[in-house]
Amino acid sequence: MNIRQEEKGTVLWFTGLSGAGKTTTARYVANELLQRGVRAELLDGDELRETICKGLGFSREERFENIKRIAYVSKLLARNGVHVLVSAITPYAEMRDYARQEIPGFVEVYVKCPLEECERRDVKGLYAKARRGEVKHFTGISDPYDIPSDPDITICTSSHSLQHNSDQILSWLNRRAPLK
Ligand code: PPS
Ligand code: MG
Repeated sequence: MNIRQEEKGTVLWFTGLSGAGKTTTARYVANELLQRGVRAELLDGDELRETICKGLGFSREERFENIKRIAYVSKLLARNGVHVLVSAITPYAEMRDYARQEIPGFVEVYVKCPLEECERRDVKGLYAKARRGEVKHFTGISDPYDIPSDPDITICTSSHSLQHNSDQILSWLNRRAPLK
């Protein structure tokens, strides 16, 4: 049985610095969708690195491999009608372009937050470790983050609330294709 394009899921791909609010926002939006009876699944970088991406490090090559695996699973879910929310740094523009090409229904969500604010939050203490040189290749400190040049949606977590950002994303989705 073929699923019509309009019945396929979108893949909201949240990209941004560590601590910018990718996981928090993606999880919130996923719950909002579930409450509306829309099938939704969250694929989080930290979680996947414990399962299907276990053992991968943070070199450019390993990050790319990580993104390829996440893109593959996202595609399978979306073509079966599930809305997918991916939260993964995805620091290189090339990786985001790969995901966009690979996944029908790909939507790039830039989770914008100044590095200084992410570092001030330092939820996991990783920025402090990176500054001390205890974590190598840390995004924003000792590894690059290409700022998205043309994201579909930009949300700002230092100046807007979680609720506001979630509403912005849901309105965008609704404008594109009404959610039930
Ligand atoms: S990537 O670049 O998309 O493959 O990264 P991702 O799978 O999203 O994993 C990012 C989480 O890993 C933790 N962590 C690091 N992040 C960046 N750089 C380095 N070196 C690093 N080491 C560990 C960190 O918890 C990231 O989670 P978030 O949610 O982004 O803070
Ligand atoms: Mg996270």
